[in-house]
Amino acid sequence: MDKQTVRDFDPSGRRVFVRVDFNVPLEDGKVTDDTRIRAALPTIKYLLDRNAIVILASHLGRPKGKVVESMRLRPVAERLGQLLGRQVRVTGDAIGVGTTDALARMKPGQVILLENLRFHPEEEANDPEFAKTLASYADVYVNDAFGTAHRAHASTVGMAELLPAYAGFLMEREINALSSLIENPERPFAAVLGGAKVSDKVKVLENLVSKCDTFCVGGGMANTFLVAKGYTVGKSLLEQDRVEDAKRILADAEARGVTFVLPTDVVVAKEVTRGAEHKVVPASKVPNSWSIVDAGPATMRAFEEALQPARTVLWNGPLGVFEIPTFGDGTRAMARFLAGRAEEGVTTVVGGGDSVAALDQLGLAEKMTHVSTGGGASLEFLEGITLPGVAVLRDRDQATEAGA
Ligand code: 3PG
Repeated sequence: MDKQTVRDFDPSGRRVFVRVDFNVPLEDGKVTDDTRIRAALPTIKYLLDRNAIVILASHLGRPKGKVVESMRLRPVAERLGQLLGRQVRVTGDAIGVGTTDALARMKPGQVILLENLRFHPEEEANDPEFAKTLASYADVYVNDAFGTAHRAHASTVGMAELLPAYAGFLMEREINALSSLIENPERPFAAVLGGAKVSDKVKVLENLVSKCDTFCVGGGMANTFLVAKGYTVGKSLLEQDRVEDAKRILADAEARGVTFVLPTDVVVAKEVTRGAEHKVVPASKVPNSWSIVDAGPATMRAFEEALQPARTVLWNGPLGVFEIPTFGDGTRAMARFLAGRAEEGVTTVVGGGDSVAALDQLGLAEKMTHVSTGGGASLEFLEGITLPGVAVLRDRDQATEAGA
């Protein structure tokens, strides 16, 4: 990574503002998936061990600039406290006298979490005054919120322009893993893409088609490709306005000699609901009033065969309606297959909520080379976009500030 990191300044006794992405799912006031909190621990512990005053800040959900009680960060602070083995206080507000007083009382080696930044509309508007207030809390800025690096907000860009700004360890790990895919993957390099919509991934496909040797496409987005190839898909999810994009991508892949594997058989269901009648049919024979809900067994064999020689595999998006367990076979099979390949030394990088959830369900996340904490951010990165929250950090070749 060509950015400076927390290793490039002396944090001792300094006030360090760390932007984290603690946008985690909550249920009944408890964190139900703490992956993003655990992923930020190396940076937080590193700074605390070196006697920094650590001021953590995050958004949670999309409260649209208003206080929403269910989006307060208290449950996150509790979970973080359990993981750190110490109490973590959360301020009543990200700004205001109470917060500045609490911050003024902090001692080296202490940590505090600011309340949800998005309770203020100025955060998403990247308001200069709001950014100035946040920057006034600290001597140094660290961004460890890879999942939010595609947003140009006050806490990700505005304040980073006002302080010496460094990457945290999670940010570094994410950028190294994802950029090695784009820049110099060990070949053959394959991408497995799924998820509901082609429109979400068109730019990723366009960017990767010049870099990948093989594509396996499943999930709802495959339907649009099947239609582009002249098939009918019954009542399945279809983006008619993306069929031309799909045709163009298929033609481009063919012209470049890229292997493009689409489902040959699919699971279809009468309704996309739990317990609905379902069966396996050839992808060319989807009944008119049925919907495609998963990849079929022959498709999974074809995907696995095509992926077998790959030395690097990127996986983003489920291969079926994974949230309904009966229609999650393809997604789970891919998780197991990639775990096996990872054990054989293949580089496996996984991103996107449902693919990561499948790995977690099966206890396989640890086996992967890298599991991204970024949804939208990892997609934009793979599209080849420079993320604003990364661009603003100090470049590696910039003089390091001794002690700051
Ligand atoms: C995410 O969950 O992808 C990030 O936290 C960003 O959230 P946002 O899409 O609400 O900006």
